[in-house]
Amino acid sequence: MGKSLPHSTADYWSNNVWDGRLQETINARGDYRKKQRTRTVNYVNGLSCDRDEIAVTELCCGTGRVVEGLISSDGCGDKIRSIDAIDISSEALVIARQKINDSRVRFHNQSVYDFDYQPASADVVICIEALFHLPDLGRTYQTIHEHLKPDGVFIGNFTLREGLDDWLKSGIGLREYYTFLMLYHMRKLARLIPPLWDYLGSSGIARTELYTEEEIREELGEHGFEIEDFDNEYDFWFAARKT
Ligand SMILES: C[S@@+](CC[C@H](N)C(=O)[O-])C[C@H]1O[C@@H](n2cnc3c(N)ncnc32)[C@H](O)[C@@H]1O
Repeated sequence: MGKSLPHSTADYWSNNVWDGRLQETINARGDYRKKQRTRTVNYVNGLSCDRDEIAVTELCCGTGRVVEGLISSDGCGDKIRSIDAIDISSEALVIARQKINDSRVRFHNQSVYDFDYQPASADVVICIEALFHLPDLGRTYQTIHEHLKPDGVFIGNFTLREGLDDWLKSGIGLREYYTFLMLYHMRKLARLIPPLWDYLGSSGIARTELYTEEEIREELGEHGFEIEDFDNEYDFWFAARKT
């Protein structure tokens, strides 16, 4: 893991703001992604009920879709003391700030590799729909581990290599499925052919790395996380406790 990925700069992400709303309306996988965000919000809600108050950090928050869910959740959502939401894309944060006006929420235009964090200060760190875009996962895990309190929880998800077949075939059809696979495997060669490279970058294939469930579990374990809840229907969603 930790291979270098293209299209990971602030300029790229500011010029290509990703907002999953459209995607969620077009295929079965969209429903699944919605479920994962709900699952994340519910999990944080459950943790809040057990504590007096909690401090949340969200990495790669994009246009603030998870934050929206957290601040409007029923139950123990009012125990959230603060949400620090970080994204490398200034343009995504413009949209997030327009939507969200809550004194507990602070947005930061920073990269996961150099954001200002207090060690051992977060109860929860969330990173949804983004870990597979980060070129240096090990470094990100190390930062998250340092930032979490001793019993803190890290919640994230990955597009799963073995789940890809099912959702691509059922969600977008066979022709697109084989095109995707071919382009995915051609990524490295495509760097030498600028027009193809640009196409791959804008399609998202170039900036996505696919891992198996086994690889993900192993890497989390090596960085001091113990999975306490997961879902692996298509993606691998997990809530992992700092050990
Ligand atoms: C697919 S979007 C997911 C956004 C959001 N988590 C959601 O579920 O709606 C990936 C996000 O990761 C952000 N991102 C990519 N690399 C980053 C980095 N190094 N540091 C911080 N954010 C990054 C992008 O700007 C983008 O908003």
